[in-house]
Amino acid sequence: MDITEIIARKRDGGELSEREIRQTVEAFVCGEVGEGPMAALLMAVVLRGMTPAETTALTLTMAHSGDRLDLSEVPGVKVDKHSTGGVGDKTTLVAAPLAAAAGVRVPKMSGRALGHTGGTIEKLEAVPGLTTALDPDRFRSQVAEIGLAIAAQTEAMVPADKKIYALRDATATVESIPLIASSVMSKKLAVGADALVLDVKVGEGAFMRDLAAARDLAGTMVEIGLRAGRKVVAVITRMDQPLGTAVGDAAELAEAAKTLAGEGPPDLVELAETLAGHMLLLGGVVEDAEAGRARAHEALVSGKGTEKFVEMISAQGGDAALLDAPDSLLAAALRMPVEVARDGFVTGLDAREVGLAVRHLKEASRNGKHLCGVLVHKKVGDSVKGGPAVTVLGPPGAEQAMEEAAERVKRAYSVGEEPPASPPLIVETVSG
Ligand code: URA
Repeated sequence: MDITEIIARKRDGGELSEREIRQTVEAFVCGEVGEGPMAALLMAVVLRGMTPAETTALTLTMAHSGDRLDLSEVPGVKVDKHSTGGVGDKTTLVAAPLAAAAGVRVPKMSGRALGHTGGTIEKLEAVPGLTTALDPDRFRSQVAEIGLAIAAQTEAMVPADKKIYALRDATATVESIPLIASSVMSKKLAVGADALVLDVKVGEGAFMRDLAAARDLAGTMVEIGLRAGRKVVAVITRMDQPLGTAVGDAAELAEAAKTLAGEGPPDLVELAETLAGHMLLLGGVVEDAEAGRARAHEALVSGKGTEKFVEMISAQGGDAALLDAPDSLLAAALRMPVEVARDGFVTGLDAREVGLAVRHLKEASRNGKHLCGVLVHKKVGDSVKGGPAVTVLGPPGAEQAMEEAAERVKRAYSVGEEPPASPPLIVETVSG
């Protein structure tokens, strides 16, 4: 295999064979191909794209690059959920317990932060004592016993995605339909769930900025899943401003807990119940997605979703008592209230900028990274006359970086004379 020739062919818009893709990925995982050539190839893919055959080959190679999790002995229908990444997107921490409480088993392998978006794993790790490093036996028995586990991808699972994901994060090669589709679907195929609900984000704060691209990504992933024998539904949802009112690991975990306790922001509640509804439909618990959403809502108001979340946190070694007072997770954080420059109505709040502000704040903080974040008090449509629009959160010692984050978040706001019309959060559903 000549890696230079492979890079050049993709650079010039040519097609790679299944064998070339497999050999390149295997050589990268074992270190024979270095990060330099691989980054060049990834950039060529970002610029030139991949054919469906190339994307399938990449997905399957990555899915088979390490251990796979056999869940066939776990009884019941197993339904996974995955988001393509957003800002303030703590939906898994709400939807997964609701779906599990309402009767499906949820085996969830989650990722770490990527680009300007946060990662579910870092959010969960804000709970003292909690581990997301579950070995396969522990993961399987937790799914069998309590119906819910959220774990980090282990070193041995999908190592190709782990390495490529980190390189993409460092080389501005995240925004690509074949790379995102293969990254998501390789992890999903390596975990033996029967069905999958995908939340495909679209908008300024998403990797897919326009609807045509989001539809393309959703269709690509649904197709890969169906070909691999899984039931897959993709829900396309807006990601222009942060979801809910909290961005940052501990802040989002606290918001998820409050949402399960019935005190959530309307956009997060709507999305979590909708996705949990689709999970219940794929799991055969209900006849249609609306009935699924109603079941998820019942699990929320009855407190059964919280009970499931507490069970999961305890099973993973976390201090679940914290959920009685979720804001105590932020007790050690410094708080910097920030006002926007002029009066009026918020016409836009750039989620990408808010996500990047939090990412840079985390990078600049030596300790207490989970305390870094932003509480959003004014969202699109709100009046910004008086009072802080956001509060920047950070650990002691991070004051300078918090000032910089505050400036960036301030610039993320657009303010006008009139409140704008808000597009619906849930755009459409794509299924096979
Ligand atoms: N989520 C993933 O798992 N991979 C991507 O590339 C983007 C979002």
